Amino acid sequence: MGPGDLDRALCGLPLMDHPNLLVGIEQVDDAGVYKLMDEVALVQTVDFFTPIVDDPYAFGQIATANALSDIYAMGGTPITALNLVAFPIKNLDIEVLRDILRGGLDKMREAEVVLVGGHSIEDQELKYGLAVTGLIRPDEVITNIGAKVGDRIIITKPLGTGIINTAQKGGVASAEVVQRAVEVMATLNRKAAEVMRDFQVHACTDVTGFGLLGHLCEMLGEGEIGIKVYTDTVPVLPGAEEYARMGLVPGGTHRNKEFYVPKVDGTKDVPPYLLDILFDAQTSGGLLISARSRDIEELLNSLREAGVKDASIIAEVVAEPEGRLQLV
Ligand code: CO
Ligand code: CO
Ligand code: CO
Repeated sequence: MGPGDLDRALCGLPLMDHPNLLVGIEQVDDAGVYKLMDEVALVQTVDFFTPIVDDPYAFGQIATANALSDIYAMGGTPITALNLVAFPIKNLDIEVLRDILRGGLDKMREAEVVLVGGHSIEDQELKYGLAVTGLIRPDEVITNIGAKVGDRIIITKPLGTGIINTAQKGGVASAEVVQRAVEVMATLNRKAAEVMRDFQVHACTDVTGFGLLGHLCEMLGEGEIGIKVYTDTVPVLPGAEEYARMGLVPGGTHRNKEFYVPKVDGTKDVPPYLLDILFDAQTSGGLLISARSRDIEELLNSLREAGVKDASIIAEVVAEPEGRLQLV
């Protein structure tokens, strides 16, 4: 499903309201937050998808890093997870599933998250993912809304995983390019989130299906701010430019462009391949962190020192034009 589809499906349905529900489904945030007591809230999210790489073990790692990412993006600490498995048992060797689950378990161990259960069904198409629960202090929840004029925005991973995945399916991508993309997708956003906690951060989200510009549009909220995007500082995975120039762009990226382009100025001045990269639907992308300008260099340095090497300042929050992205 593309951007706006869930909104359309939910439109007019009576949603849940509860005094303990701090972040709910209508907020289009990364995860839901439910207050248990004054000091503790649950952060909950679920994510699953069809394989995006050939190697089952790598797919398990990536799906797990991706599912955990929404907890990190809220400022939370993931503690438990449940496996979600759909598997074509009549057509695929059970060893494939074993490798996927092993990849997931290794990633959970790295994240110090405990697998507490799961559920599997038979399906024509393989799918894997997780439901994850984390903890957070209610007063430390970081939502995707809240960026302030004068902030600058950091991205913590390079873009292009959707394009590279499409090139791989087309048999075009080189082994080195795929290897690097897999490494990036399998990397936990844990370190970035830990560094972020030491700073006064106004807003955060992770870059996934809507692409960089789609998620930046979501950060505009009701539109009291604008965001200026420095397109030449955006980190891009090796190979992504070459494949984007060849037109190897996934359907989700095109849908993102159609949906969000009306909110974006300056698209005509950006080469088409770069626009595709900026809208590219990502799997297990990096965090987008909005913080005060005077803290931003220190935040960037702290991220890089913690090993988040691709972190870059890519945007600035401005007063005008309201409710719009401006590509420069
Ligand atoms: Co997210
Ligand atoms: Co999600
Ligand atoms: Co069950």
